[in-house]
Amino acid sequence: MPLRTKGLTKKAVVAELKKALEQDSKYSDGKILCSMCTGPHPIAKIANRLFLESNLGDPGLFLGSLRLEREAMKRLASLLNGENSVGFLVSGGTEANLMALLAARNAKNISDPEVVLPKSAHFSFTKICGLLGLKPVYANLDNSCRVDSASIQKCLTSKTVAMVGTAGTAELGAVDPIDKLSDIAVRNEIYLHVDAALGGLMIPFLEPSDRSGLTFDFKLEGVKSVTVDPHKMGMTTLPAGGILFRNNRYADCIRTETPYLTEKHQHTIVGTRTGAAAAATWAVFESLGREGFQKITRQCIKLTRLLATKLEAFGYGLVVQPTLNIVAFRSSNSSLLQKKLLQCGWFVSYVPRLDCVRVVIMPHTKKNHIHAFLRDLRDIDR
Ligand SMILES: Cc1ncc(COP(=O)(O)O)c(C=O)c1O
Repeated sequence: MPLRTKGLTKKAVVAELKKALEQDSKYSDGKILCSMCTGPHPIAKIANRLFLESNLGDPGLFLGSLRLEREAMKRLASLLNGENSVGFLVSGGTEANLMALLAARNAKNISDPEVVLPKSAHFSFTKICGLLGLKPVYANLDNSCRVDSASIQKCLTSKTVAMVGTAGTAELGAVDPIDKLSDIAVRNEIYLHVDAALGGLMIPFLEPSDRSGLTFDFKLEGVKSVTVDPHKMGMTTLPAGGILFRNNRYADCIRTETPYLTEKHQHTIVGTRTGAAAAATWAVFESLGREGFQKITRQCIKLTRLLATKLEAFGYGLVVQPTLNIVAFRSSNSSLLQKKLLQCGWFVSYVPRLDCVRVVIMPHTKKNHIHAFLRDLRDIDR
C-alpha cells in the first residue's frame, strides 16, 4: 500500500478513522474481561489532549510536564512508603521491569548473571532475560500459586543478581509473600524487584482486613524497586507504566549521559516519551484521591467475589480464591469453553499453564455485565 500522491480531505480522513474505530472493541460494552487496561478516566482524556505536544525525553522544554511527572511519582512513592524513592513514568510494565533488572545487573556487574523468578512471573521477564543476557532460574509455587520462598532460597547462587516477586500475577492476581522474599534478599544481599504492575494501585486501597499479609512495598527493607502501572488500575491514558527505585543509588545504575539535550542525563530506556500520560496520571491522582481509588477498588473486589461465588454455585472449580480482581475457573473442557464464550462476544482468556478460563474485573466492568456473562455461560455450558 504505497503512500498517496495527493492527500485526502480532513473529512475523508476522519471518516476512515471512524470506520477503523468501529472495528475496535469498547471497554464500555462490558465484554472485555481479559484485559488489565481499562477505559481512561474522563479527566485523563482531558489532560492527555492538553499535553499532546509534550516530550519528556527533552524535559527542559516541557517544565510543566516534568513537574507533573515528578508530582505523580511522588504520590506513587508515598503510597508505596518510598520516602527517598525515585520514579519515572515509562511505556508500561515491560519497560519498568526491564529498567529494574538492568539496574540490578549493572549494580552487581558480574559475568553470567542469573535472576530468580517465580514460575508465575510475567512473560515480560522472558524478553528481559534475553535482552540483558540474564539466565532465568525458576522458583516453584505453593498450593495457592504464590512463590514458595524456600524454593527461591534454593535457587540463589553466587551468580544471582536479582530476585523477583509479583504483587498481583497476570494470570491469577496472586500476591507472592514479598515479606519473606525481602528477608531472604537482605540476608543474602540480593536485589529484590517487585512487579506490582497490577497490584500496586490496588493493594493500598483494599480494606485493611483484605490487605493484611500483602505488604509488598518499600516498607520492606529488601525491596529495591517496584513496578506499578498507572495504565492498569490507575485508569490513565496509555502508555503509562511506572518504575520506582528505593533511592538514587539504584536509579543511577541506569543513568545515561545525554550530551545534546536540555537535561544532561536520562534514566529511561526510551528517549522520546510522551508527557501527556504524565499529565493524565497526575490528573487522575488529583481527581480521585485516596477515597476515589478506594471506591473503585471496592467495586472491583465486590464484583470479583460475586462472580467467584456464582461460578462455584454453578459447580465450577476455582483455581484459587481471588486475592485481587481476577477469577480463574475450570470446567470439564476449559479451552473449549473459552472458545465458545469468545464466539458469544465475551473476551475471556484461556491459560494453558493452568488449564483454566481467566476473567479480569476492571473498573469498566459493571454488575449487569457480570449477570449477562453468567447467563450466557449457563446457556453455553449446560
Ligand atoms: C504483573 C505484570 N507485569 C508486567 C506486565 C507488562 O505490562 P505492559 O503490558 O504494560 O508492558 C503485566 C501486563 O499485564 C503484568 O500483569
